[in-house]
Amino acid sequence: MQAKKAELKLIEEKAKNCFECELCKNRTNMVFSDGCEEASVMFIGEAPGKNEDETGVPFIGRAGKLLREYLLETGYKKNDIYIANTVKCRPPENRKPTNKEKKACEKYLTKQIELIDPKIIVLVGSTALESFLDKKITITNARGKIFEKEFAGKTRKFIPIFHPSYLLRQHSKEPNSPRYLFKKDLITVKDLIKDAN
Ligand code: URA
Repeated sequence: MQAKKAELKLIEEKAKNCFECELCKNRTNMVFSDGCEEASVMFIGEAPGKNEDETGVPFIGRAGKLLREYLLETGYKKNDIYIANTVKCRPPENRKPTNKEKKACEKYLTKQIELIDPKIIVLVGSTALESFLDKKITITNARGKIFEKEFAGKTRKFIPIFHPSYLLRQHSKEPNSPRYLFKKDLITVKDLIKDAN
């Protein structure tokens, strides 16, 4: 466990001093992760936004707060979760990270996945989905489904979910509304880790 912590710290330091893509130019903070290194679930979002860049913590702005509220509501404990993003520095104007930027950042995320070795990886939104799974599947079709794929040395389980920024514009909680499905998917993941424990 100590070795894992130390290795993660080392990668974090490398990412802090990374100048491999344009995103380093405007960063206030590199945003590495939040949560528990022993977590069973790893959430992977798109990229840091303004609040994340300012604090160095992922999913801390409006969308992040909404995700965290839903996690609490569905009974996740702090130790269940580890959170990261496809890129670790904020893209200007919150645009989507380019393939080149994602490629430059890939080694850090891959190492995080390898070390955390979660039971399930939750792909939060279409950018994370496209980074790991077939680019032709839409988030609407893929969400809530479990995909198994070889990644970082073993077969891993991935589940895409809507991005919480989409939910900020969707207020209904009626059956089959985006918020309803988001909660349903978080419950699916929760059941999965319960079964695996
Ligand atoms: N959106 C993301 O995808 N990641 C963050 O860390 C914040 C907002």
